[in-house]
Amino acid sequence: MPFPKNFTWGAAAAAYQIEGAAAEDGRGPSVWDVFSHQPGKVFEGHNGDVACDHYHRWREDVGLMKQLGLQAYRMSVAWPRIQPLGTGKPNAKGLAFYDKLIDGLLEAGVTPWVTLFHWDLPQALQERGGFVNRDIVEWFGDYAEIVAAKLGDRVKHWMTFNEPPVIMGLGYHEGLFAPGLKLSFGECLKGAHHLLMAHGRGVQALRAGCAGKVKISIAHTGRERIPATDAKRDIEAARADYFSSTERGMWNLAWWMDPIMTGKYPADGLKAFEKDLPAITASDMKLISQKVDFLAYNCYSGWQVRADAKGKPEKLPGGWGIGNARGTLPWLNIAPMAPYWAARFQTERYGLPLVFSENGLCNTDFVHLDGAVHDPQRIDFMARYLGGIKKAIDDGVPVDGYFYWSILDNFEWMEGYKDRFGLVHVDYQTQKRTPKDSFAWYRDVIRTNGAGL
Ligand code: NOJ
Repeated sequence: MPFPKNFTWGAAAAAYQIEGAAAEDGRGPSVWDVFSHQPGKVFEGHNGDVACDHYHRWREDVGLMKQLGLQAYRMSVAWPRIQPLGTGKPNAKGLAFYDKLIDGLLEAGVTPWVTLFHWDLPQALQERGGFVNRDIVEWFGDYAEIVAAKLGDRVKHWMTFNEPPVIMGLGYHEGLFAPGLKLSFGECLKGAHHLLMAHGRGVQALRAGCAGKVKISIAHTGRERIPATDAKRDIEAARADYFSSTERGMWNLAWWMDPIMTGKYPADGLKAFEKDLPAITASDMKLISQKVDFLAYNCYSGWQVRADAKGKPEKLPGGWGIGNARGTLPWLNIAPMAPYWAARFQTERYGLPLVFSENGLCNTDFVHLDGAVHDPQRIDFMARYLGGIKKAIDDGVPVDGYFYWSILDNFEWMEGYKDRFGLVHVDYQTQKRTPKDSFAWYRDVIRTNGAGL
C-alpha cells in the first residue's frame, strides 16, 4: 500500500550548514561564525565560511532537487543576512538571495518550507545577551515581519525555530554549541521562556504578514522513548517518561510543547524548578500559545523504557547493547520505531498532525572507485524509519510528511564536515556534487509514493 495521497516527501538543510559566503553581500557575523573560529570548538577547526557554497551554487542544487522529484524543501533563512546586526533596516541583498531561491524552487516544482531560525543568531544580539535578554521577543518579531513581507506571498509553510532544546541546552547550558555558554539552569529557563515568547511573536508576524492561508509550526526534537514491549504498562511508562519535565536540563519535551499547545507549563516541572523559575505572566503565556497548525519534529534516535515492578518508567539497562546498529555520531543509535512512538505520543497529547521535519543517517560516505557513492546503510536506514512511520499511519496516527536530513552533505556543527548525512555527496575541495545511491532510491520512493515500503 502506498502512503496517503497528500503525504509530503521532502528533504532539508539549513543556512549556516550549506550556504558559505559568510561575509558576502552585507551578511553580518552570527554566533556560529564566531564560535567556529575559536580554537578547539569544532572538529579540526572547521567552519561554515564556504560550506557547500550553496549561496553561489543554489541553481545547481535546486536542479538536483528537481531531478530527485522532491516535493518540498525545508530550508532556513539566515537572520544575519537579513539584518546584519540583528535589528534595524533590512539588507536588500540578503533578501534578494532568498527571493531568487524561492522563485527557483517554485519553478522546479519544489515547495519551500521555511524555518526562520536555525541557530545562526546575529552576533550583535548575542552581545546584548541573546535569548537571555527579553528584548529577543521584539527583535525576532521584527525579523519575522521583514521575512514575511518579502517571502510571504509565495511561502505557505513556516517553522519559527529549529530545535529549541539544542539552542538552549547545547548552546547556553552545556557550552558545546554556539554561543558556547555554560549558564545556570535558572538563566537557561529564562532564555527558554523568552525563546517561547519569540516563537509566539513570530507566529503573529507570519500570520499578519503572509498572504492567504499559511501553515505554521516550530521544529522540535527530544529524546524518543520506545516501550520495551507492547504491554500497556510499558507503553504508559514510556509515555510518562517522554512527557515528564523534571530533568534539570533543556531536553524536557513537554516543558517546551505544553506552553505552546496548552498555554501552561507542565505542573511537574513548575514544582521541580520552583526556585529557578523566571517571572512568568499570564500575558506571556497567551503570547506563547498562539495557535499552530501542525507539529514539526526532528527524529533520529530512541531509548527503550519499561515499567518497573511499581509501574514507574525505567530505561533499559545498557541501552541498546554492545555493538548496536548506529550512525557515525555518538548519539545516533538506529531505532526505526522512534518515529512511530514520537508521532503516536505527540499527536495523542497535542491533537495535531505531525510532520517529520528531519530524519537521517550520518556515515563516512566517499566516492568509490567506480565514481559512484554507494550508501546501502542509508537506504536501509530510510527504509526502516519510513517503515516505522508507515506503521504509525496504518495505526491511524496522523503523519503528513517526511523530510530527509539532508539534501547535501554539510557542516555538522561541532563535528564539522566529518560526518555526512546527504543524499548528495559534496567534495569540499572541488564542490563537486555526486548523488549517492540513496538519492536514486529516494527518487523511486517519491515517484511511487512509498508503495514498496
Ligand atoms: C538536527 C539539526 O536540526 C541539524 O542542523 C543537524 O545537522 C541534524 N539534526 C543532524 O544532527
